[in-house]
Amino acid sequence: MISKPVILDVDPGHDDAVALMMACGTLELDLLAVTTVAGNVSLEKTTHNALRVLSLIDRTNIPVATGAARPLRREPYTAEYIHGESGLDGPVELPPPTFEPDERGAVTLIADTLRESVESVTLIPLGPLTNIAIFLREHPDLKNRIAHISLMGGSMGLGNTTPAAEFNIYVDPEAAREVFESGVPITMCGLDVTHAAGAGPKERERLRSIGETGPIVAGFLDFFAATYEKVFGFDAPPLHDPVAVAAVLDPTVLTTRRMRVDVECEGALTRGETVCDFHGVTGKPPNADVGIGLDRERFFEILYDALGGL
Ligand code: BDR
Ligand code: CA
Repeated sequence: MISKPVILDVDPGHDDAVALMMACGTLELDLLAVTTVAGNVSLEKTTHNALRVLSLIDRTNIPVATGAARPLRREPYTAEYIHGESGLDGPVELPPPTFEPDERGAVTLIADTLRESVESVTLIPLGPLTNIAIFLREHPDLKNRIAHISLMGGSMGLGNTTPAAEFNIYVDPEAAREVFESGVPITMCGLDVTHAAGAGPKERERLRSIGETGPIVAGFLDFFAATYEKVFGFDAPPLHDPVAVAAVLDPTVLTTRRMRVDVECEGALTRGETVCDFHGVTGKPPNADVGIGLDRERFFEILYDALGGL
């Protein structure tokens, strides 16, 4: 089997942690590097969490490098109200990491990894797009080494941080704008599809039965379920970030539509809105394949299979 080389850019975060585990559990992906960004919690905590997750599953050979501690121009904005103070609150506290971050930092690690890979590499950004925007600014010559970006962020419809904006894009809209305008092929896994990936009691029970890590994942999701119920009234917490990994593993899990996505950076009420030109009324060239439907059953199969491989 030929594995697809990927880099995950993360801000763990419960759903980021599950996405990391998925990417490690499947032989169809070759996780070359992990970079961290401030998002759900501070950079220090997201890095600590990424290291803790990889230590737990014994993947300390994967380099982890720290990226941006704050958005390009905005004040930091975090989501402890969803992920808890640590970013990974829950019934089980993960043990401390057994390895240290790579000293090169996120941008250099991405650059080196792209240069060294024989095949072009897929980027899977699961937090605010700050690191990716800085990377594209600093290494325009390496753009053609990126096969594709499968990102979790945005929405064609409602937001989750403001009525108009999804969290990852809201936090750093300027970075998101630069990424969407970069010309790199993008699949946008926004709330329209990730809200269909809710892990209800049945799915959490199934997860609990998967090896040693299943109960830990189910524990994360029990915590996530409680905050999602409190904040949004949801009966099942969405596995946002794993959808962007699943879309790389099996693109048919998503129904997509090619369209123009512009990021609102000026609006007083609409900061971070991904304005999706569904009907092509602007005449602007499309720049993204936007997820408009999720095959929920297939998504959970992919998730169970990948976690079963750990
Ligand atoms: C996104 O925001 C974060 O809270 C999650 O990790 C996910 O990446 C969902 O809006
Ligand atoms: Ca995330």
